[in-house]
Amino acid sequence: MKKYSLDKSRIKVLLLEGIHENAINYFRENGYTDIECYKEALSGHDLEEKLQQAHIIGIRSRTELRRDLIQKAPRLFAIGCFSIGTNQVDTSDAKMLGIPVFNAPFSNTRSVAELVIAECIMLMRGIPEKNALAHNKVWQKSVRNSVEVRGKNIGIVGYGHIGSQVSILAESLGMNVFYYDIEKKLSLGNARPVATLDDLLRIADTVTLHVPSTKLTRNMISTGQVSIMKKDACLINASRGDVVDYKAVADALRSKHLSGVAADVFPEEPASNGEPFLNELQEFNNVILTPHIGGSTLEAQANIGMEVAEKLVKYSDTGSTIGAVNFVEISLQPNASKQRFLHIHKNVPGVLREVNDFFSSRGINISAEFLQTDPDIGYVIIETESELDPSVIRELKNIPHTIRVRILY
Ligand code: NAI
Repeated sequence: MKKYSLDKSRIKVLLLEGIHENAINYFRENGYTDIECYKEALSGHDLEEKLQQAHIIGIRSRTELRRDLIQKAPRLFAIGCFSIGTNQVDTSDAKMLGIPVFNAPFSNTRSVAELVIAECIMLMRGIPEKNALAHNKVWQKSVRNSVEVRGKNIGIVGYGHIGSQVSILAESLGMNVFYYDIEKKLSLGNARPVATLDDLLRIADTVTLHVPSTKLTRNMISTGQVSIMKKDACLINASRGDVVDYKAVADALRSKHLSGVAADVFPEEPASNGEPFLNELQEFNNVILTPHIGGSTLEAQANIGMEVAEKLVKYSDTGSTIGAVNFVEISLQPNASKQRFLHIHKNVPGVLREVNDFFSSRGINISAEFLQTDPDIGYVIIETESELDPSVIRELKNIPHTIRVRILY
């Protein structure tokens, strides 16, 4: 029986912004030989020129891939954002050009959870204030406001990827874990859900926030919420800057209602290192301020390199789009005994029939067909025992409303 395989030597991978070597190694281990890497971001004419040849591009957050640029990349079939967010890419436009965009949403989850636990211990021991005094030559050996975390209540707002990791770590330290989430969640270990945010705020010794930025979460911690928190409670925000009204928190620190705060994210964050940073909490010694580095660890960078490279290779090798942020998802294993075609088209009636007619009119039996659609596009993967010459791709492309076609092997 004939074995089909993808000719990977013809696929050009362009990696910008010093993407982690894990990614480069992963491409190599999987047979990709044409890999071009740059330490820096590219833009304008330089980027446009490089995009003429690239089939796959990997970027971090500084390279912008806007519609006009993506349109001018004739061969590009996949974009990898080696980052958590994908704001740097026009993802909807990429979809309409038949290009899935992948990212690494969970690679730094553990890094955030570890920082939160460390901050929880530091705040409940009153370390930030003692540290600041010691730096100012003041010796303040005191037990006031210094407690163990063991046996205390941690209140987690948002029990998603990060919140549930915080839950596991906190429980292993002997904390009682309570959480509030708008969705029903599976409690890990002995963690207990509570019915309302207010219920959580009333019982927690430390409240930690792990929700996304939405209309519902904007300023979800403000004067009213802080006032029902326990006296001497601590607050940690490593989620999004607009989830907390920092002015209300500053008032609560001034009145000594809260005993400590850690903030990693802010409504206004400098765009780059060296730019001035201003926030209401800077005047307080019992506040830990960090520059949005909750997820910034070497491990997270390495994980991101691996996670995105895996998704890109999987798509390139098999057509699987699992993990794409802008695309319908199909999950498939390689099947060397069949020839595999990918057809991405506008979601209008009749296209699929024409694709099927294309094969049947040549007397070719379709042995498997996998279709997913969204309101805009349809993505179908077709397996045949055909051995059609790759030149038929032109004819498949001529089917009206076709966006992109690939013969994998
Ligand atoms: P996730 O999507 O896995 O979890 C979010 C949870 O919040 C979900 O369970 C959701 O149901 C819940 N939720 C949504 N709205 C809610 C509401 N109004 N009330 C209560 N619960 C609500 O997200 P993940 O990965 O855990 O990230 C959480 C936050 O952490 C995000 O805002 C993300 O941007 C931020 N983050 C911060 C980093 C940093 O460097 N500081 C790094 C990575 C993520």
